[in-house]
Amino acid sequence: MGETSTHGDVRTSRRAFVVGGLGAAAGVAAGGLAGAVSVADAANGDLSSGDAAILRFLSALEILETDLWQQYNELGGIQDREVPGGSGNPAYTAALAVLDSDMAQYIHDNTEDEHSHFTFLNAYLRAHGAQGVNLDRFRTLPSSKATGAQQIGRLTNLMELTVDTSWWTRYRSGHGNPDLGDTFPQAVPDLAKGKFPAIPRSDADLAPKKHLQAIANTAGFHFAFIEQGGTSLYPSLAQRVQDPEALRVLLSIGPTETMHFQTWQDKAGNAPPLTDPTNGLTFPDLNAPPFGGQIFQTNLIMPEPTAFLSRKFPAVSIIRPTDTQGAAMGAARALTADGLFRGQSADFFATLHHLARQADAAGS
Ligand SMILES: [Fe+2]
Ligand SMILES: [Fe+2]
Repeated sequence: MGETSTHGDVRTSRRAFVVGGLGAAAGVAAGGLAGAVSVADAANGDLSSGDAAILRFLSALEILETDLWQQYNELGGIQDREVPGGSGNPAYTAALAVLDSDMAQYIHDNTEDEHSHFTFLNAYLRAHGAQGVNLDRFRTLPSSKATGAQQIGRLTNLMELTVDTSWWTRYRSGHGNPDLGDTFPQAVPDLAKGKFPAIPRSDADLAPKKHLQAIANTAGFHFAFIEQGGTSLYPSLAQRVQDPEALRVLLSIGPTETMHFQTWQDKAGNAPPLTDPTNGLTFPDLNAPPFGGQIFQTNLIMPEPTAFLSRKFPAVSIIRPTDTQGAAMGAARALTADGLFRGQSADFFATLHHLARQADAAGS
């Protein structure tokens, strides 16, 4: 549909990045795209084009985050007017509660926070005469068929995840930093290799008990994976924001992602060691050999001081990574590798990559 233009090696539909009003709430498949304009034509008002591009990319990622958290909340969170849409799945909710009795509350509140993030970012863009972000045309992925989920089109797929759990050891390492080229072992090696559901796909996934617990454990590690991404993305992009108030927006939203991450990594440590009898997915005991020690022990949740900027400096407790070069595309790639967008259209990826390239070009 619409005209196309090429950006590097990827053909991008110029209509793909549809912008419009704030009327469509997350979780609601929306139709009307009247008045859509292409990103190439988007006005930036009194924001620099770079600041607008960074805020737009963040808004897009917050919309995607909201979509996945909404799915978790419908099945495993608290159902109320703040986060409407689902009706809850008692068996899945109980399996999540094995990690912490407050899981349903935390899932609900994380969902509400993400919704507020994209809603604010779009409103801020529009208040400055710039265009907001609307990804409603990409709400094409199926919902879980399990009791509790509403049946609507989704932006993200929580049923075939490949979860990178190296954040666990990255934040426990006292010498490594991805910005200095270091890599880190997985906490749950199986999760990084296969395709696993983090929500029940249907009521058939509610048994046997260890299968359902493995799904809840997967969710527990996935929550932290998502939020450590936001924890790095905001400081990474903030380095290229020009306007002090736009910088204030990034510096005020970003640390809430860190508050989420810290909560979730504490809860992930409570995931019971087990093997799913249906597919062999194993959650190891992270406190016993061959795991255990400084980089696996579950209660070592404070960020270990590590190398930063140069190994000539003393170790310091920091968020990592925070390299600004290519940070937006790096985030898009990480979420794609996570399997979150399995089943999405080429048009979706072209749009996401276009937004990321625009953000990564900001300030350069
Ligand atoms: Fe967020
Ligand atoms: Fe988040």
